[in-house]
Amino acid sequence: MVQQERLGASKQASFPKRVQIVEVGPRDGLQAERTFVPTDIKIALVNRLVAAGVQRIEAASFVSPKWVPQMADGAAVVAGIDRVPGVSYAALTPNIKGLEAAIESKVDEVVIFGSASEAFCLRNINCSVAESLERFSPVARMAKDAGLRLRASISCSFGCPYQGPVDVDAVVDMVRRFRDLGCDEIDIADTIGVGTVRQVQQGVEAASMAFPLECLAGHFHDTYGQALANIVGALQVGMSVFHASVGGLGGCPYAKGATGNVATEDLLYLLDGLGIETGIDLDAIVSVGDWVSQQMGKENGARAGRALMARKASS
Ligand code: HMG
Ligand code: MG
Repeated sequence: MVQQERLGASKQASFPKRVQIVEVGPRDGLQAERTFVPTDIKIALVNRLVAAGVQRIEAASFVSPKWVPQMADGAAVVAGIDRVPGVSYAALTPNIKGLEAAIESKVDEVVIFGSASEAFCLRNINCSVAESLERFSPVARMAKDAGLRLRASISCSFGCPYQGPVDVDAVVDMVRRFRDLGCDEIDIADTIGVGTVRQVQQGVEAASMAFPLECLAGHFHDTYGQALANIVGALQVGMSVFHASVGGLGGCPYAKGATGNVATEDLLYLLDGLGIETGIDLDAIVSVGDWVSQQMGKENGARAGRALMARKASS
């Protein structure tokens, strides 16, 4: 018993006290929707999430509308948001054209996105990994010169829909490349949700040899139902920034069958249970998840969201 208590105490002590959640619902959550989501709904979604306490949010993508038509209204979305001081609004910028639009819209953070897999890189941004890094170099320089926070995302860190397994060395190599471009934060992204706990822990630990652990973020799609388990595994090795999507919305246009990120509601329920602070109000997020699911005509993908809504309805 005493031994069990000690074990419990030491495990809890190894979790961070506070976690940052980056809400990706308005971008990753919506980008693969076939029916165009009206701009005013996108704006309302961002505003409601921020009102619920979200402090970091991916609001838009400045990408080619030919490739991702759903994100074509990025400038109008960012222009329409009620900007709340202290909240960081981010946008994806694959090239200089995207960055110019992001600077014009006055976002706080821009995201360059590469891949640990050649095949995915080609499908997602139409160039090889080496070419992508050449393309990102001036984007990174210009973003820093403009005073923007610079984040990079590494897709397919645990597996690729076209290439299969991905070696941890390929992830660490990308981490080094993005570090050398001056990135402030780097996302280890499980695009198709195939990673498992040990693999994630090894990946995070290996990445942290090349980049500060507190500046690494976990981006876990939940396709195989492993996202929460992987987040617990990542917390255990000290990761403290995680992406999540309200209502579990989403997928990737270049990873067929991939489901959304871990639902923000489910992640908050987990973190609240561990006594880890996020600054986000679970009940308020549950209402946003319910609202956006209704707007999209979809079943709410957040299990904690559905359960808490059902409890509210029956009380
Ligand atoms: P390309 O066709 O090789 O580029 O696309 P291009 O320079 O030849 O441009 C083609 C056309 O797009 C041109 O228009 C450009 O002006 C226009 P045209 O002359 O034919 O009329 N264009 C743009 N328009 C608006 N904004 C721009 C822009 N750039 C070019 N920024 C490119 C290359 C990278 C642009 C394209 O492949 C692209 O936009 N890809 C984006 C793919 C994407 O958004 N994927 C989803 C996001 S990543 C993700 O979800 C993963 C993540 O969640 C982590 C994870 O889960 O793994 C982050
Ligand atoms: Mg994603």
